[in-house]
Amino acid sequence: MGNILISGASSGIGAALAHAYAAPGVDLTLWGRDRARLQSVAETCRARGAHVATSSFDLTDLEALHAALDAAVCPDIAIFNAGLGGSVPHDAVAQDSRAAGRMAMVNFVAPVIGANAVADKMGRRGAGHIVLVGSIAALFPLPMAPTYSGSKAGIKMFAEALDARMRRHGVFVTLVSPGFIDTPMSQSVTEPKPFLMTPEKAAAVIKRKVARGARQVVVPWQYAAIGALSRVVPKFLVRAILSKF
Ligand SMILES: NC(=O)c1ccc[n+]([C@@H]2O[C@H](COP(=O)([O-])OP(=O)(O)OC[C@H]3O[C@@H](n4cnc5c(N)ncnc54)[C@H](OP(=O)(O)O)[C@@H]3O)[C@@H](O)[C@H]2O)c1
Repeated sequence: MGNILISGASSGIGAALAHAYAAPGVDLTLWGRDRARLQSVAETCRARGAHVATSSFDLTDLEALHAALDAAVCPDIAIFNAGLGGSVPHDAVAQDSRAAGRMAMVNFVAPVIGANAVADKMGRRGAGHIVLVGSIAALFPLPMAPTYSGSKAGIKMFAEALDARMRRHGVFVTLVSPGFIDTPMSQSVTEPKPFLMTPEKAAAVIKRKVARGARQVVVPWQYAAIGALSRVVPKFLVRAILSKF
């Protein structure tokens, strides 16, 4: 069934994806930062019959990232899912610049490095599938999370451009745009979370649509309608609504 690389596999959507893909004949390479949680996910995947290798490192450590990419065999599917959320505290004028730097590294720089590295290997082989996990936040200039929405908008454009470049080399690229998924990341959000979906359900939808070669996956599907609305509602209105948060 192939070789699958998943970043951010120690929690949330990444852990659910690892569980969903785990089966006899599957080689999983799981990346995460928290060693104990990553091992626990790996054990569950082994119990389902998969062969599992793990690597614990911080994605802001670019040397460690390049080393892990060099060590990995060319995957059939590479899922760059790791992400750092969080909004700017209400009492702050702007986001702490170091925190913003870490967020931009994890959400944009690391997946761009990872996807280019595997795209090169997959393209030379003539087959492969890259999955980039963005966010519906890419469609909205969120005043409470400028770095988060900006980094996810960057990933969205990167995924679309990489797809346009790589299809002629036999490599598919899928952009996953989650709305609210019930993981530790969204559990810190205190505002209402419409259409909240379990990570297991999200992983099942992502796996099914990736297998079909979809360019875009929006989970839950209702956020696709919200995304379509964002394209027709005038920008001044979007800004006025968002400024209320
Ligand atoms: N949950 C939602 O509602 C939602 C909505 C839109 C988009 N997303 C996106 O979905 C993806 C998965 O998020 P999630 O909800 O599953 O969140 P999560 O449960 O917090 O998991 C995030 C994963 O990213 C890893 N990660 C974070 N910072 C890292 C770093 N510096 N180095 C290495 N790994 C790091 C975490 O590793 P450790 O736990 O080991 O530190 C964890 O495995 C993210 O890209 C997120 O932006 C989620």
